[in-house]
Amino acid sequence: MIKRSLSRIVVIYSLSFVVAGLSGCSVLGKKSEAETAANTAYYVCSGCHGSDNVRVNFMTPTINGQKKGYIAATLRDYRDKKRIEPLMNGAVASLSDQEIENLAAYYAKAQRGD
Ligand code: HEC
Repeated sequence: MIKRSLSRIVVIYSLSFVVAGLSGCSVLGKKSEAETAANTAYYVCSGCHGSDNVRVNFMTPTINGQKKGYIAATLRDYRDKKRIEPLMNGAVASLSDQEIENLAAYYAKAQRGD
């Protein structure tokens, strides 16, 4: 069980580079910022953090309903390596300040579930 969720994390971890890269790409620029944030949340973050209030594994905290300011500050700290956690450092490495703000707004509004 633990082995399975760990290998899933590794796959998601690798995918996150691709998707995080794509979300910053201007080809996808036609989508609204909220839509883009929802896509990133779905394709990148939910693999580890869960979606629809389903917690995926024991390692990752639930972030739905967390305060927007806290999420944004935390994501910047992970991106800028002020907070070190390799999974998160990788997942947010290529996000811009604006993308971080949009993701924080998305998760602040998401329904909280534990
Ligand atoms: C590969 C798995 C993985 C992915 C993908 C991932 N996270 Fe995380 N996240 C974690 C883990 C593990 C932690 C706990 C790390 C720690 O203890 O610092 C964490 C912590 C966080 C925290 C801090 C929570 C707190 O209470 O301090 C936030 C906010 C967060 N993630 C948001 C995101 C967002 C937004 C995305 C998508 C861009 C994302 N994460 C993608 C695994 C992941």
